Amino acid sequence: MKPLVPTADFPKRDDFIYLNAANVALMYEGCRTAISDWYNDVAFNGSNNFNELAEADVFDSIHDLAAQLFNVNPTDIAVGSSATELLSSLAWAIAPKKGENIISTDIVFPSTVYPWQRVANATGATLKLAQCKDDYLDLDDIVKLMDQQTAVVCISHVEYGNGQVFDLKKLSDAAHEAGALFIVDATQSAGAIPIDGKTGFIDALVCGAYKWLCGPFGAAVMYINPELQHNLEPGLVGFRSHKHMWDLDPGRIEYPDTAKKFEFSTMAFGCARGLEASISYILDIGVETICTHNRLLTDQLIAGLIKQNARILSPVNEKERSAIVAANFEGYDSAALVQKLKDQQVFVSLRADTIRFSPHFYNTKEDIGTTLDHIDQLLITEK
Ligand SMILES: Cc1ncc(COP(=O)(O)O)c(C=O)c1O
Repeated sequence: MKPLVPTADFPKRDDFIYLNAANVALMYEGCRTAISDWYNDVAFNGSNNFNELAEADVFDSIHDLAAQLFNVNPTDIAVGSSATELLSSLAWAIAPKKGENIISTDIVFPSTVYPWQRVANATGATLKLAQCKDDYLDLDDIVKLMDQQTAVVCISHVEYGNGQVFDLKKLSDAAHEAGALFIVDATQSAGAIPIDGKTGFIDALVCGAYKWLCGPFGAAVMYINPELQHNLEPGLVGFRSHKHMWDLDPGRIEYPDTAKKFEFSTMAFGCARGLEASISYILDIGVETICTHNRLLTDQLIAGLIKQNARILSPVNEKERSAIVAANFEGYDSAALVQKLKDQQVFVSLRADTIRFSPHFYNTKEDIGTTLDHIDQLLITEK
């Protein structure tokens, strides 16, 4: 199989087999150089080049690029340091009240619900988590929890553990029918699965950079539907929150009339430059192309694992599968298998006694074939 991208874009990818994008993806080389260029400039020149004007405009191109990624308007994008930070600010802005509830799932990544839990602890709102049964979360079980008191439905587009993909339109319709906001954590999908925000069924979306976007730790984006953003006062504020950030008048805050109101402080700006390079790179390749490539890899992986009598815990049907494949082997210790694979320079994650494989577009069919060969051997030696 011809690699989708040149090795120069991921210089170390041939040194080992890396099937761990759901944890931290390999970083795109253009991202790495953008980050170090920015830090070198500030280290050597202080704010001579990264001056007040540059700092004020620093997120402009990410607004444009993330808007293309999610098919929304640049004015509806905010940049922050992590998905959790942006979601926390949003959760405090929405602040569901006593008597209201927030809905998610009991297999969601903690950061997708903890911000809501923290707000609920302060306001008296309650959190309701739909239960995963037999390694699968039935969408109807999320919908059944919704009632007229539901203020927010906040889910992860792709569950980090089993890779289940949720039907955003169906959940959004149900949430809106209940009068609730529909908020999506796209950290495990952006860059790997197309997301179309234009239809307006997503009220807000957060997304970190260091997984499927092949970007850095330290940068993230949030989309907020314009109808929602105008009514919100951000939970986190700082000098950047004022619409003319260099006014520096501590006596008042007038927020920008866009999602920028959620940008409040300095941050590791080099990481923002890196994220900019990564999103641009992903857009050039095309998310559809990446999704198709990853689908071929996981087809091969799933077929191979099934032949090895693995128990596949991820959905394998067309609509609900992603590039995350969780599996285990009866009679084998998953932790030991993950460690033995690592000894063979194959990197995967251990999640709740399962092996989580997460190949991405820098991987090839040869990577998957070699991984399956190693597993074949381990199933003999580790019995
Ligand atoms: C679904 C999901 N959301 C959020 C995060 C954490 O994002 P951040 O580190 O940007 O706060 C993770 C990390 O694994 C995740 O899987």
